[in-house]
Amino acid sequence: MADSPVTTGTPTTPDTPATTGAGKAKTDETPVLLSVRHLSKSYGDHEVLHDVSFDVPEGGVVVLLGPSGSGKSTLIRCLNGLETIQGGDIIFDGSPVDTSSEKEWRRLRNSIGMVFQSYDLFPNLTVAENIRLAPLKVQKRPKADVERQMDALLKDVRLTEYRNAYPRELSGGQKQRIAIVRALAMNPRLMLFDEVTASLDPEMVREVLELMLRLAGRHMTMIVVTHELEFARRVADTVMFLDDGTILERGSAHDFFTDPRTDRARGFLESMAPIADD
Ligand SMILES: Nc1ncnc2c1ncn2[C@@H]1O[C@H](COP(=O)(O)OP(=O)(O)OP(=O)(O)O)[C@@H](O)[C@H]1O
Ligand SMILES: [Mg+2]
Repeated sequence: MADSPVTTGTPTTPDTPATTGAGKAKTDETPVLLSVRHLSKSYGDHEVLHDVSFDVPEGGVVVLLGPSGSGKSTLIRCLNGLETIQGGDIIFDGSPVDTSSEKEWRRLRNSIGMVFQSYDLFPNLTVAENIRLAPLKVQKRPKADVERQMDALLKDVRLTEYRNAYPRELSGGQKQRIAIVRALAMNPRLMLFDEVTASLDPEMVREVLELMLRLAGRHMTMIVVTHELEFARRVADTVMFLDDGTILERGSAHDFFTDPRTDRARGFLESMAPIADD
């Protein structure tokens, strides 16, 4: 594959219209990249995901919201083969995934990138070594190609000067941007983000959210777990509200935030509202 489109597109400004998501408009003809059907997941005899089904169109941004313990991280992890599932099907790019095969997941992780709350960079490797490790060793791409893409990605996140720094020399926000760059350097078709700003100081949250908004504006297909509701409203094409392992609501960000259909979602949004002055 050629250099990732994320290295070349025009940045999306933060004032992307709230009601449409930061990505392009999706039509009925937009191909489905990921399809999840009747997925169930248990830890022991505790079923934490029940009959979860949804589609993610190519270029779509799905934001996953829900109370603590509702199963958001578990669902994301199931989509990257980090958890075994007990039932259901995952279809990626038109092909059913053999979810019990670690070999299959290793192959798919070339196409499905994931970034967690903890930056997860290798502490003993420089920024550049972290970024180019998998493209060179796993994807076996030519070094010049990987270097070119890395330079463009580092420039895009304004961290070129940290190329030879070690993770300990970076701030939390910088580390998280490098973790995202490292995932993007694999040219993924789908990116999974699980609360990537949750452990950052407030002043560093914005730079990471802006990067994700730019990615959405460049039509990266993404599933995003976040507690940043204003960001969620702006970035999402679709919001899925998970409660106790079930998708209770799914709809446009505009509909979800202005008129949630269930009491549970309404209560969740109220619980996340800013504290009143009086
Ligand atoms: N490794 C595990 N072993 C056993 N139970 C687990 C494990 N991981 C998660 N669970 C349980 O699965 C349920 C869903 O957890 P999960 O971490 O997916 O929730 P979440 O929606 O991501 O919550 P949060 O917003 O706090 O991150 C919870 O009841 C949790 O206790
Ligand atoms: Mg979680």
